[in-house]
Amino acid sequence: MTIQWFPGHMAKARRQVTEKLKLVDVIFELVDARIPQSSANPMLGEIIHQKKRIIILNKADMADEAVTKKWIEFYRAQGLPAVAVNSWQGKNMHAIERAAQEVMAEKFERLRAKGMKPRAIRAMILGIPNVGKSTLINRLAKKNIAKTGNKPGVTKAQQWIKVGKSLELLDTPGILWPKFEDQSVGYKLALTGAIKDDLLQMEDIAAFGLAFLYQHYPRELATWLGLEQSLDDTTELLRLIAEKRHLMDRYHEPDYGRAAEAVVKEIRQQKMGRISFDIPEEIEEQANDEDHRDD
Ligand code: G4P
Repeated sequence: MTIQWFPGHMAKARRQVTEKLKLVDVIFELVDARIPQSSANPMLGEIIHQKKRIIILNKADMADEAVTKKWIEFYRAQGLPAVAVNSWQGKNMHAIERAAQEVMAEKFERLRAKGMKPRAIRAMILGIPNVGKSTLINRLAKKNIAKTGNKPGVTKAQQWIKVGKSLELLDTPGILWPKFEDQSVGYKLALTGAIKDDLLQMEDIAAFGLAFLYQHYPRELATWLGLEQSLDDTTELLRLIAEKRHLMDRYHEPDYGRAAEAVVKEIRQQKMGRISFDIPEEIEEQANDEDHRDD
């Protein structure tokens, strides 16, 4: 499901999230481990105010493990607990409950000191479409409850799902919109399948993907395409791919459009292995550049 977001949709989504916020102690912000920054809504902090937050890097099975570790350190350095999971196969699920207990420990300690017994921690999942919110809820609930998207005309009361001993999770996630004023964010969302192809030019998405792979994963790029060495000329790469995949037009010339489609499809299918498209060092560099620009 991919929603085309308009200001009305965003306002409605924000309203729905704000209403649910009152019910919970902690937010599980779900992001795609391959693009933790690009799949996050930058307004989340503003929407949830001071509410406690745990970053869940989902689809960790598809991301570069070393980069995911750096992301976890990056968030922790900012005082944000972060855990990497694979909700599809139910990997590292217990880390979620543990992280929730840790962020609530101080408050619960205060309650205990007053002689009160802490109740279960209440949490909700927030994230942009396609990051795996329903998959995670189903996994935690161990049954099929969260349907992707909302069915028109069907309203249902919020329900709490018991997770482990100390956690209760809202059975419907809060949906936020992706934000891609920055073109590279749009390309990364497209390459990971988070947004529809028709929002951006296929050849631009492919060119971005190939250039990124050349810069960060040259060996994987070369192996995937059966080349001795990787190349930084994206037009030449597209031509080679067209030839290798027999994608020729009726004049027997390389069909760059179909080659670009093949590239995007194969990147999504991870034909070159586990790739992360957001790298913490790059994000920090960008932030530094912006700070300097403000000076
Ligand atoms: P959403 O509620 O946030 O919109 O996402 P949803 O759970 O529907 O998940 C989107 C797609 O991501 C699903 O693929 C789902 O199987 C996949 N997914 C979720 N979590 C993980 C994970 O940890 N690892 C991997 N590898 N995949 C995960 P799908 O049903 O095939 O949808 P689509 O690919 O056709 O969009």
